Amino acid sequence: MFVSAIIPAAGFGERMGATISKQFLMLNGKPILVHTLERFQACEMVKEIIVATQSSSLSLIEEIREKYSLTKLKPPVEGGERRQDSISNALRYVDEQCDIISVHDAVRPFVHLKEITQSIETAKYYGASIVAVRAKDTMKQASTDGRVEKTLNRSSLWSVQTPQTFQKKILLDAYRFAEMNDLMATDDSFLVEQIGISPIIVEGSYENIKVTTPDDLLLAELLVQRFVP
Ligand code: CTP
Ligand code: MG
Repeated sequence: MFVSAIIPAAGFGERMGATISKQFLMLNGKPILVHTLERFQACEMVKEIIVATQSSSLSLIEEIREKYSLTKLKPPVEGGERRQDSISNALRYVDEQCDIISVHDAVRPFVHLKEITQSIETAKYYGASIVAVRAKDTMKQASTDGRVEKTLNRSSLWSVQTPQTFQKKILLDAYRFAEMNDLMATDDSFLVEQIGISPIIVEGSYENIKVTTPDDLLLAELLVQRFVP
């Protein structure tokens, strides 16, 4: 089984509001992106890692590859305007032998090896898998003016993370369908759902946060002290 990991890292981190893109902010002495890449480098099932990044950061990725001995890292590819465009571009560069593609946000450095491997095993068997955690809060649906419309049944709700892993053909078909029909999504699962496939949930951990806002960075600084991959 040949597994390719695609790491979208071409965002500007507007909600973080830092002077550099958040994937390059330092966490315990190394960029957040490096923590993330080390998780996939360490996973034996993963054979190659493709990072999509802004054109101005392509050489930085090459430097990171050497400095941290990330031998599975392929030459970086240019990202696009939306996350979806970044992944779409990376898909053009996956190895011919690839059977399974695992997509993981560059800014989720606290993914455990177990989540990566379970996500891959599940996708291998069922076609598509997403890592998610049970919703902790009661969730309400509201109108655009903030009026509660209904209370959702929490036991059926999940907060979705990455990795999201797919058999290659499924993900390629989903992206082709999205392009033809002008679909937009913030996660890959949505696009796969649109071609009639129901991904299987792999229950993950609450540590696997997406570093999005400054408070997430504070939390990341605490988590990194005790994180066991
Ligand atoms: N991403 C990407 N290409 C884009 C936008 C996002 O590769 N055009 C990546 C980000 O780098 C990140 C992941 O997708 O690793 C999740 O996106 P998000 O958390 O939204 O990051 P940003 O888009 O950078 O942040 P913001 O939305 O606050 O600007
Ligand atoms: Mg974004």
